[in-house]
Amino acid sequence: MTTTGTPPLPKAELHLHIEGTLEPETVFELARRHDVALPYESVEDLRAAYDFTDLQSFLNVYYANMVVLRTRDDFAELASAYLRRCPEQGVRHVEMFFDPQAHTSRGVPIEHVIGGLADAIDAHTDSVSAGLILCFLRDQPAADAEATLRAAEPHLDRIVGVGLDSAEVGHPPSKFTTVFDRARELGLKPVAHAGEEGPAEYVREALDELGVLRVDHGIRAIEDDDLVARLRRDRTPLTVCPLSNVRLGCVPGIGLHPLPEMLAAELNVSVHSDDPAYFGGYVDTNYTAVRDGLDLTPDQLRTLAENSFESAFIDVAARDSFIEEVRAWDGGRPG
Ligand code: ADE
Ligand code: ZN
Repeated sequence: MTTTGTPPLPKAELHLHIEGTLEPETVFELARRHDVALPYESVEDLRAAYDFTDLQSFLNVYYANMVVLRTRDDFAELASAYLRRCPEQGVRHVEMFFDPQAHTSRGVPIEHVIGGLADAIDAHTDSVSAGLILCFLRDQPAADAEATLRAAEPHLDRIVGVGLDSAEVGHPPSKFTTVFDRARELGLKPVAHAGEEGPAEYVREALDELGVLRVDHGIRAIEDDDLVARLRRDRTPLTVCPLSNVRLGCVPGIGLHPLPEMLAAELNVSVHSDDPAYFGGYVDTNYTAVRDGLDLTPDQLRTLAENSFESAFIDVAARDSFIEEVRAWDGGRPG
């Protein structure tokens, strides 16, 4: 099989935490710049800490590393470094999550966060289109989410939607109905992480109580036949992140990932990277992992990529033209 010199499969990246693209080398570079002491001797030491047992064990390191993100330029450089990688991965459009509460709680003004990310997006419009999804931290009080949305209101022209992330179990979607009601009133597209570690019931709640247009992860929905029938009927997008699921112990190994079952159930699934600096690769690596680990065919990979464009918050003309490009893919290089 030829893998070099051929164009990568075009795709939309819909489940990417921009803070999850913070590479260990950048943690050290920014720590030096801002004179921040790190609890690691070296990049290798830091990487050795990426030995996760569950979602919380990852979140502890993910939030701790963010201490080096301080200025508008830091956020712009972080997002620029990611956006520069998009063409080689076949990423034509990206909707990136960001976690304002993880920064405002450390004294970083929200306008530095949004402004920096927006600067990067504006600098890369020639090579990739990009939008921002503001996530609320579900393990924090609902009132904090409401305050965060109010603080973001002057910047809504730069934000496509709202999401819900962080520690899932014990923090059901129904905790956030008020803030999601307000976000929808403001014209923001609602999405939420659900059914990653939490039960299928959280997926149902995200649909019923938050009115989400996409479910992030949603892998545990497969445990509930009625829910699967509903997701199939409504073509609800599920943004699945295989390497993340393996590294956080949500599935026991790539060969046991429910993605083939989800495809067989004709669910609107697509493949994404979640926190690529922590989980062993960007979206191209996730595609290669499911091709090799689950024996997916070129047609199944095309379906995943078509679904990604169908599920993106883009206009119909852009969607149709991206889907044409997917159909013309030669079947060689998924990423
Ligand atoms: N924040 C960053 N990555 C996350 C994940 N996989 N689940 C929940 N919250 C997150
Ligand atoms: Zn995620």
